[in-house]
Amino acid sequence: MTRMIAPSLLAADFTNLEQDIEMVNASEADWLHLDIMDGVFVPNISFGLPVVRAVKKISQKPLDVHLMIIEPEKYLGAFRDAGADNLTVHLETCRHLHRTIEEIKELGMKAGVTLNPHTPVELLVEIITFIDLVLIMSVNPGFGGQKFIPTSMNKIRKTRSLIEKSGSPALIEVDGGIDLSNAAMLFEAGTDILVAGTTIFRSADPAGAIRALKHAGL
Ligand code: DX5
Ligand code: ZN
Repeated sequence: MTRMIAPSLLAADFTNLEQDIEMVNASEADWLHLDIMDGVFVPNISFGLPVVRAVKKISQKPLDVHLMIIEPEKYLGAFRDAGADNLTVHLETCRHLHRTIEEIKELGMKAGVTLNPHTPVELLVEIITFIDLVLIMSVNPGFGGQKFIPTSMNKIRKTRSLIEKSGSPALIEVDGGIDLSNAAMLFEAGTDILVAGTTIFRSADPAGAIRALKHAGL
């Protein structure tokens, strides 16, 4: 099992992004997670393409872009051009999910599908062999600093078993409310990548927090 960490920039210091990105560059983090919110699909607005482009100039880690927007299919090329390496869309926002996934891959990015807490894993059955990444939301998307929803653990196990049964190469990423109290459990349940914002950027030692998450329970 892989053990990867993707710090979520949403909790970084927006008056000094360069400093926080350099911390991530020098750390054991694997990807940099960028949350794109439109104020329609989720009740919050974060940042958009110009910020992704600027971050790309200095990030040495692949950009893991999590789209929380309606009609994501309109912006796939724009996010690729801005520097996205992974592009993840919400299943709840895609009328033609298979087409959108194929377009993301044709554009040269890794394609992810994410599920809100209420969306059943079973809805992935017909798409799982086409995707590179499943992102399980362990909070309702829209805000950092929320409490982990414990039933997410079972969703991770179900996703792991679906991946094994189908022979899909997809990795499992989990996002929301992740800290040192649940990181080890999440890896044990079959998570490959942990996303964490608050736990990393609000820590007195962010690089140490990344290391601690990565090696939790070992
Ligand atoms: C929430 C975002 C998360 C968020 C996680 O909509 O998708 O990536 O930044 O923040 P924490 O780790 O603080 O729960
Ligand atoms: Zn996210």
